[in-house]
Amino acid sequence: MALVTTKEMFDKAYAEGYAVGAFNVDSVDIMQGVIDGAVRAQSPVILAVSGRMLDDVPYIVQACKLAAHDNAIPVALHLDHGKSVKLCKRCVDAGFTSVMIDASLYDFDTNVRLTREVVDYAHSCGVVVESELGVVSGKEEDIVVAGKYGQFTRPSDVVEFVSSTGLDSLAIAIGTCHGAYKYKAGEQPYLRFDILDEIADKLPNFPLVLHGASSIPKERLDIFNCYGGKLPQAIGIPEDMLRQAAAKAVCKINVASDLRICYFGELRRQFALKPNKWDAKEFFLPARQAVADLVYDRLVNVMGSANKA
Ligand code: 13P
Repeated sequence: MALVTTKEMFDKAYAEGYAVGAFNVDSVDIMQGVIDGAVRAQSPVILAVSGRMLDDVPYIVQACKLAAHDNAIPVALHLDHGKSVKLCKRCVDAGFTSVMIDASLYDFDTNVRLTREVVDYAHSCGVVVESELGVVSGKEEDIVVAGKYGQFTRPSDVVEFVSSTGLDSLAIAIGTCHGAYKYKAGEQPYLRFDILDEIADKLPNFPLVLHGASSIPKERLDIFNCYGGKLPQAIGIPEDMLRQAAAKAVCKINVASDLRICYFGELRRQFALKPNKWDAKEFFLPARQAVADLVYDRLVNVMGSANKA
């Protein structure tokens, strides 16, 4: 199947109360693991590539196209956190089917202007656009947004933002956070479902997006830390909260940290278990398999998108 946009994925997800998983693919074997998991779950899937990867690994775009072509599930190729109009246009030209312009750190009018410029270009090429309103805190794309600078999305802004930009999906800030540390030890996890509901009421049938939505599964974190990794007391978003969001207007849930912990934890374990091996397959295949298992679990038990391909 050729790469598709997220339009039909989101229409179906909204109508049927589940979310489409968007997984950051930092290497070709991580991407293959994501595809393996999605094929097993028979789920639609979004391969998210960050702008930083495009310079380092241009092959990944071709690999994503090939993966979509070889499998009978809907696959979208998405630019995650495009920090400039130029980068978004470059990705549209390169064959991405979805781009995110992230101008959320600018003031409202600048965010509108930059988003509009990307929308005009992308739509003329049949590509869809995501943008963010409010600020999700944490670390992504080497930019750190400290907790106090993260801002919840203001429901009063959303109608004007959507109508003046013409964008296709809106990333909102309701308490999720990029990276492995969403909450401090002892802190009670929370998401502002009241804000989500208010936004959904103002934007009927409009797909919303959750960034910073890894749940940092304990068994994978334990492997990572047990074999030399150092992420003590990392805490993610509880899975039941993500499922609750997916049943509402959230149609896309972004996962990057879970994959990284899973992939590098498994690599660390394989290196420790096989000190006398040097065949790449000995290490990278089990790590890819671990990613596939994690993605399968997320799609079935968190997104609720099994058999929705
Ligand atoms: P996590 O760090 O929670 O995986 O979030 C990833 C993300 O939102 C990528 O855009």
